[in-house]
Amino acid sequence: MSFKWKDEYSVNVIEIDNQHKRLLELGDELVDLAMGNQDIDYYDNIVRVLEELKNYTVYHFGYEEEMMKKYNYNGNEKQSFEHMFFIKKVEKLVRRDVDGQQREVIMDLLNFVADWISSHILLEDKKFGEYLNSIGFN
Ligand SMILES: [Fe+2]
Ligand SMILES: [Fe+2]
Repeated sequence: MSFKWKDEYSVNVIEIDNQHKRLLELGDELVDLAMGNQDIDYYDNIVRVLEELKNYTVYHFGYEEEMMKKYNYNGNEKQSFEHMFFIKKVEKLVRRDVDGQQREVIMDLLNFVADWISSHILLEDKKFGEYLNSIGFN
């Protein structure tokens, strides 16, 4: 699994793309952890990535939702609903006891990021990007 940026991920809006790139970076850090030595304790790294992922999620969704309001995007309900779903999911992951199940937590986080890209960025965020482009914003 790799989270290298691909052009097909672009929603054609620079700031949103930059924020999505940050998500992919966190995904790549998780890949490194997943491929790391099984005998090493990754507790601190996992907790740090989890914390960053949670903060990033709240920040990024807040940014998109503000943009939707500002530019009167009518697909905002579906967006907000999906954002809430991902926030709940990440909160659940944060509450989990990381120690003793480090590999499971890493794999769940990897799936979380992969799912976010394929089920949200490539669909809803792309639509929002198209809308922003159509009103001259990029
Ligand atoms: Fe979004
Ligand atoms: Fe997004």
